[in-house]
This record gives sequence, C-alpha cells and structure tokens, in this order.
Amino acid sequence: MEYLWITCSIFLLLYLPFTRSQGLCEVKNGSSTIIVDIEESRGTSISQETVPPELPIVGEPNVDIFLDLSFPKGVPLFFLNEKKLQLLTPIDRDEKNLSHIVFQLICTIKSTYKKRTIPVIVRLIDVNDNAPKFINTPYETTISELTPVGTTIFQNVAAKDKDTGVNGLVEYTIVKGSNLPDDDNSIGRRMHSEDGYGYFAINLPHQGQITVNRTLDFEKTQRYYVTIVATVSSLL
Ligand SMILES: *[C@@H]1O[C@H](CO)[C@@H](O)[C@H](O)[C@H]1NC(C)=O
Ligand SMILES: *[C@@H]1O[C@H](CO)[C@@H](O)[C@H](O)[C@H]1NC(C)=O
Ligand SMILES: *[C@@H]1O[C@H](CO)[C@@H](O)[C@H](O)[C@H]1NC(C)=O
Repeated sequence: MEYLWITCSIFLLLYLPFTRSQGLCEVKNGSSTIIVDIEESRGTSISQETVPPELPIVGEPNVDIFLDLSFPKGVPLFFLNEKKLQLLTPIDRDEKNLSHIVFQLICTIKSTYKKRTIPVIVRLIDVNDNAPKFINTPYETTISELTPVGTTIFQNVAAKDKDTGVNGLVEYTIVKGSNLPDDDNSIGRRMHSEDGYGYFAINLPHQGQITVNRTLDFEKTQRYYVTIVATVSSLL
C-alpha cells in the first residue's frame, strides 16, 4: 500500500509542472490564426456580430485566461466583451476599399501569466448599401426616322455602383416615363414629345445599349423621352 501511494505522488508532481509549463492559449481548432467575418455597417450601426460570434479560444475569460486586443497598425476598431468582438466605430468597406482588418489577440493564462499573441483576421462582408448613380448624364442623341428596328442608337448609358462583387452588377431597363416635358410649340417649330417606352429597348441588361424596337415616324413624334432604371442585382 505504501509503495503505491509514493508512486502516485511522484507521478503527480512530475506531471503537473510539465503540462503547465507548456500551457499556452489555444485556438479551438488548433490553427495559428483566427479568422472571423463581419458585415460592414449599415449606416452608423456598430452592433453587428461576427461570424462565429465568439473568438474560438480555449478557456474562459477572467477565469482561466485574460484576453486583450492590440492594433499595432492603427486605431483600435474593436473591443472585447468576453470573447465577442464589438465594433467601436462603423466600418464601410466601400468608402475605404477595405476587405479585411488584421490585429492581434493577446491571450494570457491566468495561473502562469504565459502570453501568446494570436493574429486575428476579420473579413468584411459587403452589404448592398449603395444605389447606383448614372454618370455623364444627360443622354441625348439624334437619329433618322428611317433607322431600322434593331439598330443600336446609343451605347453610353452607364451607372456606377460603389459596392463590390455581386452587389456591384448593374442592370438597365426601360420603364414607362412619368412627368414628360411639355411639347415645345415655339414659333417656327412644332415639337411633339412622346414617352419612348415600347419604341426603344435594352436587349442586354448589363450593357447600356439602346436599340430601336418599333418603326418611328417623324411626322407624328419629333422627340422621345426614354426612362431608364438602373438596378443592382444582389444575392443577399
Ligand atoms: C479553424 O477555424 C477557422 C475559422 O475561425 C478556419 O478558417 C480554419 O480553416 C480552421 N482551421 C482548421 C485547421 O480547421
Ligand atoms: C480597391 O481595391 C481593388 C483591389 O483590391 C482595386 O482594384 C480598386 O481599384 C480599389 N478601388 C479604390 C477606389 O481604391
Ligand atoms: C418591343 O416591341 C415588342 C412588340 O413589337 C414588344 O412586345 C416588346 O415589349 C418591346 N420591347 C420593349 C423593351 O419595349
């Protein structure tokens, strides 16, 4: 009996100091960096959570470990609430052309004060938050009434969208116009205007090219107003 007890205590004495001295903070899946995602801010929102919502660190903050953030390359953008990263200021990926934020997590084992610095990469997820804007407007062109149906008469319709990727694909469609300007009946000319809906078409929605879609008649109509809507397709 006595023999056994001595063996056990020697085993414990050797075992405990050994594991503790090796013990550093660990990332849950054993990787050397932490990668999480966060949506860019909608307006001035800073309440959005990361995905996953908590940093995958082994241990409980203030119980087994202490966690701290370090931003060696600039101003702090996050603070830590337990294991949750929370934004200090809104982030707009479109303004600053920002795709990710890199900083460091400093994790200290409470019982030994052993520190480990773990790189954290927060990837910014684009939110479709910018309406497209037409550039180089107004668009105007003069064509002959004899222009055959199918002819491209204008190809410089363009709207820009600040969002990236799938959120930045602009589509153009012709819609029925509203608020058509009055006919111009000043002396010497008679200018009858009509809405161009139906007379003109955009056959390739991603290209701002306008084609003639119906036979035109100068005696009847001298000016068409074509209303184009730019929309951004989104998978979100
Ligand atoms: C560990 O998790 C991160 C997400 O935080 C992931 O990107 C990475 O691929 C994972 N690594 C391993 C080895 O599973
Ligand atoms: C944003 O970065 C991309 C490459 O990551 C580059 O092609 C683009 O021109 C940049 N846009 C601005 C506005 O800086
Ligand atoms: C083009 O004209 C045809 C009829 O000729 C009509 O069915 C179609 O909707 C028109 N297209 C557009 C874009 O107005």
